[in-house]
This record gives sequence, structure tokens and C-alpha cells, in this order.
Amino acid sequence: MISHWWERKDLKYSEQGELTLGGYSLERRARQSGTPSFYYSAERVRHNLEELDRVLSRHTFKHKIYYAMKANRFMPLMTFMKSTGLCGVDVCSPNEVEHALSCGFRAEEISYTGTSLSDNDLDRILRHDGLVLNCDGLSMIRRVGERAPGREIGLRINPALGTGYGTNELLRYSGTKPSKFGVYASEFPEALALAEKYGLKVVRIHFHTGCGYLNGQLEVWKQILETCREFLKDRDTIRTINLGGGLGRPLTSSDRPLDLEKWGRTIAAVFGTDRYEINVEPGVYPVQDAGVMVLEVNTVERKSGRLFAGVNGGFNLAMEPAHYKLPCEPVPCRLREREEDAFHPDRMGEVTVAGNINEALDLWIEDHPMPELREGDLLAFLNTGAYASAMSSNHCMRGTFAEYLLV
Ligand SMILES: Cc1ncc(COP(=O)(O)O)c(C=O)c1O
Repeated sequence: MISHWWERKDLKYSEQGELTLGGYSLERRARQSGTPSFYYSAERVRHNLEELDRVLSRHTFKHKIYYAMKANRFMPLMTFMKSTGLCGVDVCSPNEVEHALSCGFRAEEISYTGTSLSDNDLDRILRHDGLVLNCDGLSMIRRVGERAPGREIGLRINPALGTGYGTNELLRYSGTKPSKFGVYASEFPEALALAEKYGLKVVRIHFHTGCGYLNGQLEVWKQILETCREFLKDRDTIRTINLGGGLGRPLTSSDRPLDLEKWGRTIAAVFGTDRYEINVEPGVYPVQDAGVMVLEVNTVERKSGRLFAGVNGGFNLAMEPAHYKLPCEPVPCRLREREEDAFHPDRMGEVTVAGNINEALDLWIEDHPMPELREGDLLAFLNTGAYASAMSSNHCMRGTFAEYLLV
């Protein structure tokens, strides 16, 4: 028996050698509907939200989960998430506010944290009574104050410390180099004074310091929480702490799943069990491993000794590998031989999987051991439920794809 690092009860090869997600054969679905196509398992999303909710519920503090819809705004998926009753939505633009409302979320279930807002953005957001609003800096506090004096706000703070996937600097939002996000400790008193000037009630702090952290980063994450706790000293009106998102998922065989229990205990250890309401706004965690992108191999050819498999979709459909240098995992949708044989180390060959965009960086993965591939085969790119379709572009006019919610 062979087991793959990514395998789960709802993501595995069937006895017929077909990769299944939530019981659906991706080969069959993609042959029927065409490629490029994305498939999202509703049950996996529910499972992920429930797991998060369960871990937070072990502690006596109140909590709320706001799904960061920038990760995936596919309407059927978001409507499904609303129907679970397990989450609200984290948004970062007026259009996201409108989209969340159209998916059935109420204004009070929508938390806004954005940067570089125009006056027009603010006018559009402030129309929605009850919307949870976090201010990202002094300019925003002033302009919210001018428009909506007396309103409750949160302040996004910047602890000058960040963490993300492994040592990947591209996924850190905070560190020694000043970043555009939030209010630093040096400007925090000024931010509070400005809020007071306009009668704004600061009821919450918010921070999001990076994306994709796993167990190896929990120590730094704890330090981040402790640094943020300093902002709360003598601030009795602040009753809610939004810890942002950033919870990661394994992306390679050497990654281990985030120890969510330890993560929950860390929150309780730093912020206590009843003083504050804890909010989280994960994007990756609920949806990344629930989604798979399917592309067709159209070219198999050796070039200067290196075996390339060309596929009918490029980095513009799932930008993270090219953009953030994150690993990706393409696997065949159907195996030609028994799983043990197809994935036997002696039988696999090194393949460089290349997209269909005329740019040198458009390589999905290089010299990766894979079962034999032929032109016409379908490949499933795992863990593409987050920041893939949502970030896609029409570069080279190759931005066409379909999305399906598997229920
Ligand atoms: C403010 C804020 N909250 C939440 C998230 C979601 O992060 P993740 O998808 O890593 O959980 C992001 C991502 O950029 C963000 O900027």
C-alpha cells in the first residue's frame, strides 16, 4: 500500500485508479465539463470550519470566524459557507462588501480591514450600518471620523514582527522593514487621540502579520501575540482582538499539519480565557485544501535532456507558485496502472510541468518525480482552493476557466 502525504478520506485514488474529491471522480467531471476547471468540496470546507470552531470553542472566550473572501469568492462556495452558520466574512474592498451581501451575509457579519482606501471607498462602506470596521492608519481614522463621528471602530496594529510559510519572506506582512499595514506602537497614542477627537469608540484591535504559518512558526506567532498584548495596556474599551488569518496548510511531504489545539491554547495563554472576544479571519485554512484545479497535458517532450509536460493553463490561473514561490502538487487524475506501481520510485520519472503562458517563470514544478504522463492526460493541482481562481488574470487572453462546487 502506498500513501501520499496529501491523501485523506475524501481525497484519494479509487480502486479504479481515479482521483476522487469528496467521492467525485475528477477525471470524469473534468472530461464532461472541460478544462481548465476548479472543483471545490463543500464538505471539506464545512469540515475545516467546524474544526476551527471546535478548537476555539474549547476555551471560554467568545469567538467569531470571519472567512477572508479574498482567498476564494466563488459565489456558490460563499453561499454554502453562509448556510453553515459557522462564519462571517472578512472583506477588503467595497466590491467585496457588496459581494458578501449578495451571498447572504448581513452587514454585522462582515468585517472590513483594508488599506489605501479612497474617499469613495469609505463612502460606500459606511453606508452599511452594523458593518464591522477596522482602521488601518491615521488617515483612515480621520476620514472615518469626519464621516461617521461616534462610530465604533477597530484599529489594525502592526507589531513589527511577522511570520508566514516557512522562511518565505514574501508572505510576511510585518517585520523590521516598515510595511503599509496598520498602526505601529510609535503612532498608537496618536491614533487613539485622533479617534477620541472624532468620538470614535475603539473597541477592537486587529492584526494580520503573514500567511501560511505552520507548527515551526508557532513560537514566533506567540511572540507576535505577546507584542500585540502590549497595545492593550490601560485600554479598557478594547474588548475584541482580531488575530487575522495566516493559518497554513501543508504544501509538501515535509510539512506537517498545523497543531490547531496548540494554536488555540496559545491564544488562551496570551489573552486569557474571558476578558476578550477572539476573532480570526482565515482565508487559506477553510478553503485551500478543499479545492483542486484540473488541467490537460497537451505536450510531452524532452528538451535538452529535460522532460517537459505542457498543460493548458498557466500561472495566471493560480499565481501562488510563480508569485510567492509556493510549492504546488500536480498529480494524475487517472492512473494507467496500479497505484503502487504508478508511484513506485523506480517507475516515476522527473517531469517539469509547464504552463501555456509565454513567460519563462511559467513553470508549475521542476524535475518532479511523477508517474508516466501522456498527451491528453488530466492533471489535478492540489490545494488550489485559495488564492488561485480569485487571483486569476486574463494574461495572454488565457484567463478562461470554470468552477464547480461539489456538494
Ligand atoms: C487582513 C487580512 N486578513 C486575513 C487574511 C487571510 O489570510 P490567510 O488566507 O493567510 O488566512 C489576509 C490575507 O492577505 C489579510 O490581509
